[in-house]
Amino acid sequence: MAVLASGRGSNFKALAERSQDRAFPAEVACLITDQRAAGAVSVAESFNIPWFWVDAGERRGRLTADAESEIVARCESAGARLVLLAGFMRILESGEGKLLDRFSGRVINIHPSLLPSFKGLQAQRQALEYGVKVAGCSAHFVDASVDGGPIILQSAIAVHDDDTAESLAARILGEEHAVVVRAVELFALGKLKIDGRRVLGTE
Ligand code: GAR
Repeated sequence: MAVLASGRGSNFKALAERSQDRAFPAEVACLITDQRAAGAVSVAESFNIPWFWVDAGERRGRLTADAESEIVARCESAGARLVLLAGFMRILESGEGKLLDRFSGRVINIHPSLLPSFKGLQAQRQALEYGVKVAGCSAHFVDASVDGGPIILQSAIAVHDDDTAESLAARILGEEHAVVVRAVELFALGKLKIDGRRVLGTE
């Protein structure tokens, strides 16, 4: 798989670690980042995983056409059969030749909320401020809707009275690492079947 990340890279690290086990059915072919100074880059270097920085431009939240073409080319030349968004803070758009077109049904994202609640940025803070008692994370296939594609796996945790956005995010992150690894494993084993909005084969 190719991993796309913009930040710290802890989900990427969880995958890189798990992929070292020969029995795990997937491996990370490369990291692509839009942030040269991202922690994810250090993770790639520590695991000897090739990484590439793509100049994604200033249009925050989106990719330039050139950046998108470069990402597609990097994923294809790395031989990736799956693209994993692990804290990649840009929205992918639909269109011919774009990533979602070339890797249709093969792009997975990890999001720190129980979708369809709390899409977008700072999902953990949104959950805390809304007052939900149960929070969590979701791995889902990516389509052109933001955080709206078919859900593969979710994991829930309780929200405590003394939680802050940071403490809640830290607990959710622990769940993310397990969920992202399992979603990739199920995908690589060919178990997942998309049936409309439902993803079957996750039990
Ligand atoms: C994770 O919490 C991930 O779910 C979130 O960014 C963080 C990246 O952490 N992604 C989104 O909010 C995307 N909408 P990491 O760099 O340590 O993996």
